[in-house]
Amino acid sequence: MMEQKGVMLSGIQPSGELTLGSYLGAIKNWAERADQFDCYYFMADMHTITVRQNPADLRRRTVSQLAAYIACGLDPERNTLFIQSHVPAHAQLGWILDCYTMFGELSRMTQFKSKSAAHAENINAGLFTYPCLMAADILLYQADYVPVGEDQKQHCELTRDIAERFNAIYGPVFKVPEPYIPKMGARVMSLTSPENKMSKSDQDPNGCVYLLEDPAVIAKKFKRAVTDSEACVRFDPVNKPGISNLMQIYAATTGRSFEAIEAEFAGQGYGAFKTAVGDSVVEMCRPIREETERLLKDKGYLESVYRAGAEKAGRIANKTLRKVYKKVGFVAP
Ligand code: TRP
Repeated sequence: MMEQKGVMLSGIQPSGELTLGSYLGAIKNWAERADQFDCYYFMADMHTITVRQNPADLRRRTVSQLAAYIACGLDPERNTLFIQSHVPAHAQLGWILDCYTMFGELSRMTQFKSKSAAHAENINAGLFTYPCLMAADILLYQADYVPVGEDQKQHCELTRDIAERFNAIYGPVFKVPEPYIPKMGARVMSLTSPENKMSKSDQDPNGCVYLLEDPAVIAKKFKRAVTDSEACVRFDPVNKPGISNLMQIYAATTGRSFEAIEAEFAGQGYGAFKTAVGDSVVEMCRPIREETERLLKDKGYLESVYRAGAEKAGRIANKTLRKVYKKVGFVAP
C-alpha cells in the first residue's frame, strides 16, 4: 500500500508583484516540501478582488505569479499549482461556511479592521467574509498543514474553529488543520520601517523589494535601507531592527550564521555591509527572474500547468464538497 502523505496547502494573493519577503518567508521553503507532503499552492485571485483591482493587471499578475512559483523551484509535476477561481468548489464551500461562521467572529479579525481602515471607501461584504473563503480553501483539501506568515495565524485559527464546529454537528467531515509558521526567514521586514513586515502594500516603495525587480533598483533599495547610528553589524532585533533585518536577509541568501556575518563585517561601516546584502539578493533573484521571463514567453506551457492543476485540485475539492452538500441536506444533483 502507498504511504499516505500529509497534505500541505497555501495561497498568495496576486494583489501585487511577489516580494522578497514572500520568497524567503514562504515560497523558498515550499519548494523543499514536495517529498514529504502532498502540496497544493494556488493564486488566491478570488481573495484579491476584495480590494478593487485593474482587471488587466490582475490577469497578468496571476499568470506571472504562477511562472514565478515554477521559477522558484515548485515543480508542477510534484506540486499541484492552480488558480483559485478555476476551482468553483472554493466559492461553493465558501458560501456554506459563511453560514457556519458568526458575525462576531469575523468582526474580531484584525486584518478586516486594518483593511477596512485602509479602504474606507470600499468596505464590502467580501472583505468581511474573506476568512470563510480562506477556510474553504483549506478545508476542501483536508489539509494537515497551512504554511502562512504571522499575519494569517488568526485566519487559520478561525478555520480550525469553523471545522470543529461543523464536525461537531455533522461528524468528522473536515480535517482540522495546523498553521505551520517556519522559524527561519518567516518575517522579512520593511527596509525603510523595519518595525513592519515587508509588504507590497507598503506606502514607501523603497521599503519593499520585489523578486522580479530590476537588479539596479534592488541594489539601490538596499543602499538606502534604514540602519542606526552605532556603526556595528550586530544582531539585536529590539535595538537594531534595521541591521538585524539585513542580517536575516543576508543569512537567508548566503546560508551564513549571524556570528559569521558579524565577523565578516567587524570594524567596517554599514556601507560595505549594505552593498554586500544587496548584491547577494540580486544574485539570488537573477536566475529566478530569468526563468520567469522565459516561462512567460511560453503561454502554452503555463496554460497546460494551470489547467492540469485545476483538474487535479477540482477532483479532490469536489469530493469534500459532495460530502458537505449531503451533510447539510442538499438533494444530490
Ligand atoms: N489570506 C492569505 C493572505 O492574504 C492568502 C490565502 C488565501 C491563503 N487563502 C489561503 C493562505 C489559504 C493559506 C491558505 O496572505
